[in-house]
Parts: sequence; structure tokens; C-alpha cells
Amino acid sequence: MSTRATAARLLQQVIYAGDSLTEVLQQPLAQTVVATEQALLRDICFGTLRWHERLSAILKQLLGKPLKAADKDVECLLRVGLYQLLYQRTPDHAAVNETVKAVKKLRKAWADKLVNGVLRRFLRERDALLALADQQASARYACPDWLLQRIRHAWPDDWENILQASNTQAAMTLRVNRQQLDTEAYRQRLEQAGFPANRVPAVDSALNLHHAVGVEQLPGFAEGEASVQDAAAQLAAGLLDCQPEMRVLDACAAPGGKTCHVLEQTSGLQLLAIDSSEARLQRVHENLVRLRLHASVKAADAGELADWWDGKPFDRILLDAPCSATGVIRRHPDIKVLRRDADIAVLQQEQARLLRALWKTLQPGGKLLYVTCSILPDENIRQIEQFLHEQADAQHHPISATWGRELAYGRQILPGDAGMDGFYYALLTKQGEPQP
Ligand SMILES: C[S@@+](CC[C@H](N)C(=O)[O-])C[C@H]1O[C@@H](n2cnc3c(N)ncnc32)[C@H](O)[C@@H]1O
Repeated sequence: MSTRATAARLLQQVIYAGDSLTEVLQQPLAQTVVATEQALLRDICFGTLRWHERLSAILKQLLGKPLKAADKDVECLLRVGLYQLLYQRTPDHAAVNETVKAVKKLRKAWADKLVNGVLRRFLRERDALLALADQQASARYACPDWLLQRIRHAWPDDWENILQASNTQAAMTLRVNRQQLDTEAYRQRLEQAGFPANRVPAVDSALNLHHAVGVEQLPGFAEGEASVQDAAAQLAAGLLDCQPEMRVLDACAAPGGKTCHVLEQTSGLQLLAIDSSEARLQRVHENLVRLRLHASVKAADAGELADWWDGKPFDRILLDAPCSATGVIRRHPDIKVLRRDADIAVLQQEQARLLRALWKTLQPGGKLLYVTCSILPDENIRQIEQFLHEQADAQHHPISATWGRELAYGRQILPGDAGMDGFYYALLTKQGEPQP
């Protein structure tokens, strides 16, 4: 199938069946696109989802009423065409012709006149169509209204910057394995290999590549010299402050980015990595092997202590909780299409359940680091505030740092702050005397 027709089918699965973009890009259908067009396929899929709200607002004007359920692939193809005309450098005539050709590949030959007509009308009436669409903030910022309102309410001075940053493409960021070499030495290795990169202020192990590359091209990747991980995510290991021989729990570990960083940073840890997804734990195993690290790995619901806890308390707990992922929209634009307003309350309850359960497994004197890649207060500061209110032996430990913003409880990085993803960190200590 052609690249554009394939993109339309993959987008149909994300937009109308609720699959994630990462999942659909791994399907055999995506592999049918020739290697030389894989980058184009990814760009079309990411870009069309990034601008979904705006493209849909334009399409609504052009179509009058949506196409019927059986023809959503054509509707997705129209969004692909509009994305190319608005955001890609493809010449207009080529974008229109290629999109019209893709109609046949979808076996919807009846729609070629429709697609041709809609895209040509867009070219003729572009300014007026855009002006009308952009009257709605949700189209202008390409963000569903419910999320836009939440972000605006939470961050009245920053919401526009947040939405703009969320619509940019993030740099590919690496974590240098400083067990093996220092960050500057690896930066030089990268440069010699033709992959220039910058250091990230405040995150010693991080390098931002000027251009994304396949990991197999990175020097020493197979040998564990570097991993792909956003700089904000690289702050977790330092905050957890592990000492050799400690018992450490990573309660929501997959795919293992933070697990491996914690192990790289401190040797001799007894680390248990749990995740409820057996499939995702496979990635933890792969990362541990590649980086030559050791941890015990278990598939379990971290909130069901009877299923996995041996009763021995942990000195450190990392709870990188399941969340709305509203801080990482620039890397996962499908979040804007997949998430619903009602999900936030459900996530908030799940985070609270995990916090309450895991607290029981923490040694008095021990530390629990609560992390989300969310920018919504319900999942962050309010969650911690509520927990401290309920839990008499929990104490908030302010994080003093040069990155992010200090809140009454925890610290927030907003998307784009120093080029990083949006993350929230809160550090809690358990009062009482440690057990011998
Ligand atoms: C934000 S991701 C973790 C990312 C990981 N810490 C890293 O740095 O690579 C959240 C993880 O929580 C897992 N999860 C969700 N609910 C869980 C539960 N009840 N118990 C354990 N893991 C859970 C998900 O499968 C997902 O892998």
C-alpha cells in the first residue's frame, strides 16, 4: 500500500479504535511501507495527530457533515492531505496528486473526486478557512477543549507556552551510562560519528542530539554506553538518593528507563522492578541485558501487596505512576486524541491507591519518590497534598534544584522548560526509627 494510504489506515485505528500510535506503528501494516519512506510515514502519522484538532476543524468546514463510519479511512486520508498542505514542504500539486492516488489503494475509488475537490477547495480558500477554524482556541492550539481548559486553569501564566511547546517536535535525548564513560567523552564520540549533540544544563547525564537517528547507529549503544531517555526523566535516579546495598522498589518500572538509571548510578542495590504489564516487562529485561545490570523483575499489580511483597521493607521506593502523560504530548501527540476528561479522576484514584499501598512497604526513615509525566494538579500537587493529609507518618521533603518550579508540594517541570518534557516530582520521607 502507498505511504499515505497506510498512514490513513493507521490513523483510523488511533482516532476511531483508540489504539496508541506506538502500537500501530509496530504492526505488520506499517512495515509494508518501503524502508526509504518509513520516516515519511512516521512524520505524517505524528504530524497529523499533533494537529488533529485544527485539521478536523478545517475539514468540518470543507465536508459539511462527517463521512459515515465505514469511510473513516477516507476522512483520515483527507486529514493527511491537509497536514501535508499546511505543515510539510511537499509542493501543493504533489500533495494533492499523491493523496488522490492513495484513495485507490484504500479501494475507495468513488472518493477520488471528493478528495481532489476538498483539497483543491482548501488551496483556494485557505486563508478564510484557517481564520474561521482558528477562532476556536482548541483548533488554534490543536488541543481538545477539555484539556485546554484544564491546562489554562492550572497554569494561567504559562498555558499558551505549554500548548505551543506541546506542539513542537522534541529532540532525541540520550542518557550516557556513566558507569562506562563520562557524558563529555560520549558527546565527542557522537560528534566523531557524525551525530552532534548538546549537553543539557542541570542534567549531567543527558545529551540532546541535533538530529534524531536510529539507535543502532549510535556508537556503543549495543554495549550499553547510552540509552534513549528524556532529560526530565533522568532526574529521578538522583532524587531517589540510593546508597549501596539498599533495598529499592521500582513499582511501575516498564520499560525500565528509570530502573536502569538507578542501577547505573549506584552499584550493589537489591532492586525489585514491578509492572502490571507482562508485555512491557519484556522491555525491562532487554534493557537490563543490554546495560549489563541486574534486578529482580516481577509482573504484578503493585497495589496488591499480597501478590508480590515478602514483608521486608524497602529503603527507597520509586512510584512512577500511571498518569495522563500530558507532559509528554510532544513525543506522544496521540494522547490528545486518546485521553478523555473522565480519565483524569480514574487515574487520580489509581495513583492514590498505589501510594497508600506502597507506603506500607517503606522502611521508617526511607524515601518514596512520586513521579508523573503529567502537568495536571489533580495527579500531582493535589494528590500529594491529600496523601499527606491522610498519612500522619509521611513528611514532604522539598526538592531544592535549579530546574523546574517549586510548588507547595513537589516540583513541576512544564513541557519545553529547558527543552525538557513535563514531569512532576515529589519526595516523601517516612517518619520513625528504621528497623534493624
Ligand atoms: C509511566 S510508566 C513507567 C515508566 C518507567 N518507570 C520508565 O522510566 O521506563 C507507568 C507504568 O506503570 C505500569 N502500571 C500501571 N498500573 C500499574 C499497577 N497497578 N501496578 C504496577 N504497574 C502498573 C504501566 O504498565 C506502565 O508501564
